[in-house]
Amino acid sequence: MTRPFIIAVDGPAASGKGTVATRLGRELGLPVLDTGLLYRAVGVLTERAGEDPDDPAAATAVASALSPDQLDDPGLRTRAAGELASRVAVHAGVRAALLAFQRTFASQDGGAVLDGRDIGTVICPEAPAKLYVTATAEVRAERRWKQLKGQGETVAFDDVLADIIKRDARDGGRDTAPMQAAPDAVLLDTTEMSIEQAADAARRIVEAARALWERSR
Ligand code: C5P
Repeated sequence: MTRPFIIAVDGPAASGKGTVATRLGRELGLPVLDTGLLYRAVGVLTERAGEDPDDPAAATAVASALSPDQLDDPGLRTRAAGELASRVAVHAGVRAALLAFQRTFASQDGGAVLDGRDIGTVICPEAPAKLYVTATAEVRAERRWKQLKGQGETVAFDDVLADIIKRDARDGGRDTAPMQAAPDAVLLDTTEMSIEQAADAARRIVEAARALWERSR
């Protein structure tokens, strides 16, 4: 059996990792999973059920019952959903409930691209290609602010920056699967890069990883 070529793309909010993952998937003909959507869905559905997202048992029950058709909801892309996602993502039970779905997605024939916070460290530590995409908090806040504005959400830039800083601290400081670069991940700082430049750099990193992987098979 051939091992799947898995590309792990991790990094903080609005670093460009989603765009990079989508481009890589399109160019290489691989399916892409935005794992942030899983946590967003759990956060939003927990709140919609009238439960407390900070309650591990309530959020874990929602995560255990989650189905892929619940990930298409445009309500998952809002600023509030990002905050709810980060709150439920601290619970070990929620993370455990979402593990099998992510690993099954990653192990499909040919491979897959997964973007998130713990793909290279916890979900697919064996992935032959790992990127950790970053940018300064200010640049990420500007990107997120423009994106939210494009979606019709009116919000002050300073509030978006405060969200990003708070989310970085929560995601990086939690006990279970904190956001961090895997020791063998290649760092891609997109602060000074356009989308095209970031996508080109990511492609080069993945091509180099693929060449090494082919030789090791
Ligand atoms: O990437 P996105 O902004 O959609 O992620 C929303 C939140 O979901 C993150 O801030 C993080 O708390 C959580 N998350 C996670 N692990 C992942 C993906 C997302 O903890 N693999």
